[in-house]
Amino acid sequence: LRVNWDLAVAEKDGYAHFMLKEIHEQPAAYRRALAGRLLTGYPWVYLPELQLTAERLRQFRSVHIVACGTAYHAGLVGQTAIERWARLPVLTDVASEYRYRQPLITPETLVIVVSQSGETADTLAAMREARRQGAHVLAITNVVGSTAAREADDVLFTCAGPEISVASTKAYTTQLLVLYLFALHMACARGTLPAEEIGPIVEALGRLPEQAAALLERADDVADYAQSIAWQEHLFFIGRGADYAVAMEGSLKLKEISYIHSEAYAAGELKHGTLALIEEGTPVVALATQPELYEKTVSNIKEVIARGAQVLGIAAAGQPDLSVHAHRTLTIPDTHPMLAPALAVIPLQLLAYYASVTLGHDVDKPRNLAKSVTVE
Ligand code: G6P
Repeated sequence: LRVNWDLAVAEKDGYAHFMLKEIHEQPAAYRRALAGRLLTGYPWVYLPELQLTAERLRQFRSVHIVACGTAYHAGLVGQTAIERWARLPVLTDVASEYRYRQPLITPETLVIVVSQSGETADTLAAMREARRQGAHVLAITNVVGSTAAREADDVLFTCAGPEISVASTKAYTTQLLVLYLFALHMACARGTLPAEEIGPIVEALGRLPEQAAALLERADDVADYAQSIAWQEHLFFIGRGADYAVAMEGSLKLKEISYIHSEAYAAGELKHGTLALIEEGTPVVALATQPELYEKTVSNIKEVIARGAQVLGIAAAGQPDLSVHAHRTLTIPDTHPMLAPALAVIPLQLLAYYASVTLGHDVDKPRNLAKSVTVE
């Protein structure tokens, strides 16, 4: 008996590319990232691996989140969660800037480094500098035994599983989940969030894996949209608050693998420049998942449509109907607004993927880019 099989195909589990496989692995990765870490009452989150005590968590005066690339975008979402829930000022910076800007670090500074590989040169250098100046360093990483994991004072693993595709997907979303968990953990220690608010967030976290799976079932809608924009020269992503952070990640994904020029803009900043670039037919992806900012974002959508933009709206279930305003709409399942990025990014990952496939690019190995940047 002779069985013909191809190792590369087998490793991809039947998917055409590692990136697509990794996008579809997200529900399982979410389950792993959350496994054993959610409780049904105080302290709500169980992170026994942390050395940080509740007392130490109460002593911090500020948090710095430092990372590169996609991990930096996860940090921006983490910043919103920590500020909102644990009520501490947070500075988020790319490691290559942070390490040289003489950051103001004291022993009351918690420095969180986020790195899929735990080996990115700038992130490691930033982390060493922070430790040298007396900060407590928490590494959020996917790779057990990585340099970041070994050198940090504390480590939380994202449990995404191996990520092969250069464009990061499940590593990003599991970083979000771990940042949410840590933000809640901090909020509980610091007493900054009432139980009636924490309970629904914890419940919503637990629902994310099945909601991500439901969203992935609608991948064909995104593929269809991707084909319609693949030959465009520019594409803009707009959003406010947490949606802006997701817009940045969506834009990076698209640039990385489809080579379509794109920019992410804080929707409220459009008038200060980007609006000049909108012409008849310019595609704009507008994220409007944040109830507090919904009306503001809708007015920005009207602004770009008035200049000729074709808008794909990313909406959240349970909010007013965005399809009244946008040309096309994709709705993510109902969740806590702070957690919306963990769902809203999925269609953007698929958009980048299908645009790249449509254009015939090497999805898993985009030109000029590496999975891990271990030199400066
Ligand atoms: C490279 C990768 C990105 C990644 C970044 C940071 O640019 O292509 O996908 O986000 O490095 O990597 P890290 O391993 O530190 O998360």
